[in-house]
Amino acid sequence: MKDRYMAMLGGALFLLLLSPLSWGAEMGKFKYSEFKSPKRCGMCHQEIYQEWKQSLMAKSFTHGWDDVEYFKLALPHAMKLAKVAGVKGGCIACHAPLAFLTGDIPPKPPASGTRANEGVSCEVCHNITGTTEKVPYNFSYTIQPGRVKQGPRKDVKAPHGVETSQFLRSSGFCATCHDEASPYGAWVKETYREWKAGPYAREGVRCQDCHVSSGPGNAARGRFRKDVAHHVFHGAHSESKLAGAVDLALYTKTETVSPSSRMKLRVELFNGKVGHFIPSGSSEERMLWLEVWAVDSAGRKFFIPVDKKGFKGEGYTIASSDALAYQAMGEIMGIKGFKGIKRDGDVPNGARIFRKPFFDPKGRMTICQWYTANNTLVDYRIGPRETKVETYTWKVPGSIAPGSVTIEATLYYSLVPSSVGKFLKLPAAEYKPVVVNAGTLVLKVKK
Ligand code: HEC
Ligand code: HEC
Ligand code: HEC
Ligand code: HEC
Ligand code: HEC
Repeated sequence: MKDRYMAMLGGALFLLLLSPLSWGAEMGKFKYSEFKSPKRCGMCHQEIYQEWKQSLMAKSFTHGWDDVEYFKLALPHAMKLAKVAGVKGGCIACHAPLAFLTGDIPPKPPASGTRANEGVSCEVCHNITGTTEKVPYNFSYTIQPGRVKQGPRKDVKAPHGVETSQFLRSSGFCATCHDEASPYGAWVKETYREWKAGPYAREGVRCQDCHVSSGPGNAARGRFRKDVAHHVFHGAHSESKLAGAVDLALYTKTETVSPSSRMKLRVELFNGKVGHFIPSGSSEERMLWLEVWAVDSAGRKFFIPVDKKGFKGEGYTIASSDALAYQAMGEIMGIKGFKGIKRDGDVPNGARIFRKPFFDPKGRMTICQWYTANNTLVDYRIGPRETKVETYTWKVPGSIAPGSVTIEATLYYSLVPSSVGKFLKLPAAEYKPVVVNAGTLVLKVKK
């Protein structure tokens, strides 16, 4: 046990130097038997149990990509490279907290059916009492299992003890797992910090207000309330949450198009719904991109590349089929002479990508967030209530069919670049493009 703890400290030496390292202090302190299974809680909290079970919280250790990234990449890497040795337990502290708290590290893979599979369970969140950090990150929660559950209300009578927790009700609670610094000291997840710096924090709109929605339901069997905390936790894995998350408006100066001419198009993207950047969280692998196409009356499709703006690092925000990346993955997997795979997957050449690229210590773009030394070169994501304007100069083909032409602008999202998904043989649902929003304009073609 002690050895594992020391390994973790070693892995985070950089941070240790910055501040006395206190996060992760709960590792290995407890026994599995001290935590009840979610099913037990679900005997009385049926509705909340059903909601939680469908959420990513219940699948944080078992769902396909997490399983692959930990067992195929992070764990082997932690055994090889001392600098990242701490992630052996670090990943588990957020993704399978019970295994972390009981020192079951590394836990057996999901197929073995251990209690690590319970993921971020009722007993994790409702036993968390606080944090060791001023501004929480890196699983810096403190936890106290037992009969007393931390809850949001003052007026409850329950068959178990209940303590009213201001912490559970605060965004800082979410920050204990949603903000993360890599062993190299790079902020590789900062949803809380993005929120804190934005308009919603100032207005008092918490993470819970958008992700643990409030409405009529049964807080427990026979305890109807009109404002129960629904444990939906919808995020980037829910098409319903992504749909319309960003407004899209498409403009042209004219209503007609001349063959063999140049015409200007403008797209405005307004993030009016997301309380932090989009994408956020696992920014190293999320892709948000805008495609603009023209379709003539003969059904022929013409792709229109985005105009360059000329900012530093812009190359990383425009899709290129030549760019290779993610070499670290091949190295970890021991593939000799691995040159990398397509950086932008199947996104068409010249499309704008809203992203924040992460770089490994050798300066190559990476999806290994634990192996990230730097990610401050360029941040071209869309901030809360920010509008990004993209312009397009279309060289209208001389051969365009007469009649009308339809301009289509579509904003897509994918959890992982398709090239990475295919390379790691992830389920196709993990890298399928999802439409966030779309707009069309119909223009007349001049004779
Ligand atoms: C035998 C039934 C029963 C079981 C089992 C049970 N609870 Fe409860 N719990 C209740 C009742 C009843 C309430 C009160 C609900 C109300 O008045 O809103 C409650 C309230 C709560 C609250 C809310 C307190 C608040 O401030 O609103 C939390 C949190 C909670 N339970 C967590 C759990 C967890 C976690 C488990 C599993 C370890 C669990 N409960 C198991 C019956 C149960
Ligand atoms: C990721 C953390 C997390 C997990 C996992 C979680 N909860 Fe909660 N729960 C919360 C938060 C946060 C609130 C309070 C929301 C607020 O303040 O708006 C809450 C509120 C509650 C309440 C009070 C509901 C009300 O409005 O009266 C109950 C009861 C409860 N949770 C039970 C459970 C049970 C049972 C499970 C497992 C099936 C569970 N929770 C899993 C974070 C969590
Ligand atoms: C104990 C750690 C922990 C705490 C506390 C926690 N989360 Fe999470 N959360 C996770 C993990 C791990 C995932 C990733 C699940 C996955 O993709 O495997 C996640 C995923 C999510 C997602 C993404 C779901 C999706 O569809 O992409 C949302 C939204 C979310 N959490 C919101 C919250 C909010 C809001 C709070 C605070 C009320 C909170 N979380 C507290 C660990 C935590
Ligand atoms: C004003 C509403 C709002 C607030 C406040 C808010 N979110 Fe979100 N969040 C969203 C929406 C909408 C999405 C879906 C679009 C997306 O993925 O960015 C989302 C997505 C997410 C995701 C998935 C991100 C990704 O790209 O993988 C996580 C994780 C998350 N939120 C956590 C949090 C946490 C933690 C907080 C508080 C620090 C928070 N959210 C505050 C609205 C909100
Ligand atoms: C500080 C807590 C924390 C640590 C440490 C952590 N994660 Fe996560 N992880 C999260 C949260 C929260 C999310 C969800 C963010 C989002 O929805 O974008 C997440 C998302 C992921 C995802 C994306 C899941 C998906 O479906 O797209 C993978 C894969 C993952 N983590 C693997 C790992 C691995 C492997 C490690 C260790 C190297 C690790 N995580 C360390 C909290 C953590």
